[in-house]
Amino acid sequence: MSRTIWVLGNWKQNLLREPSASLAKAIADGLPDALGGSSGVRVGIAPTYLALDSVAPHTGDGRAAPRLLAQDVGAQEAGAFTGEVGPAMLREARVQAAIVGHSERRAHFGDHDQLVAAKLQAALAGGLDVVLCVGERLEQRDAGEHEAVVISQLSAALSGLAPELDPGRVTVAYEPVWAIGTGRTASPAQASEMHAAIRRWLDTAGLQGADRSLLYGGSVKPDNAAELLAAGEIDGFLVGGASLDARSFLDIVTSASNHARSSQAR
Ligand code: 13P
Repeated sequence: MSRTIWVLGNWKQNLLREPSASLAKAIADGLPDALGGSSGVRVGIAPTYLALDSVAPHTGDGRAAPRLLAQDVGAQEAGAFTGEVGPAMLREARVQAAIVGHSERRAHFGDHDQLVAAKLQAALAGGLDVVLCVGERLEQRDAGEHEAVVISQLSAALSGLAPELDPGRVTVAYEPVWAIGTGRTASPAQASEMHAAIRRWLDTAGLQGADRSLLYGGSVKPDNAAELLAAGEIDGFLVGGASLDARSFLDIVTSASNHARSSQAR
């Protein structure tokens, strides 16, 4: 079975409303060309909350339209939670999926495992799909703990899922912290090895590892995308810096489409 390849842009705390709308439009306009008729690739963009409404007109459900993502989501449905933005508010803003557990949120904003699990459950319950980020820090990799760290993050987020919530709506993105914004990419072998471990854990947890798209993030660029995809275990990317430029983001989409077409032809 061939898994959908996702190319997602995480714009982080960059771009005001107008530049966000222009970038979204440039991506939407260039997408049919970059996809080149490939049906196996989907694209999404995650602007800052306040630019969601300016970006939304350039997104949609269609095969050649970018999906609209949020970079985070509050863990509560509604109430006295100053500063939070809940799933219903995101749905109203036409958001289709929320990123949870990004390492920058874990490192700087106190998003610990339990909070990530609560956000994931709230998002699913509120009708959003979820991109769950996991990844080890450099010292954890150097200590040989990388696999255990990632599996424990996965397990904390997914093991206690309420039975009515559909785990099929969660896509896991492996983003080693040491590769984010550093220009240092995990090698295809390192990323594949972790993806294989994640798939094994998902299988053990009854979550159909083999059928799931697993993404990689960390210094993905047009010139390393094809090599990462060729390793076989990686079904797309969560792109930071290179997603802030329409040309480089679309070039990554083109790599993904070429890869999807050649896998389908095999
Ligand atoms: P960079 O592509 O800038 O390394 O960022 C990756 C990331 O954190 C995406 O969520």
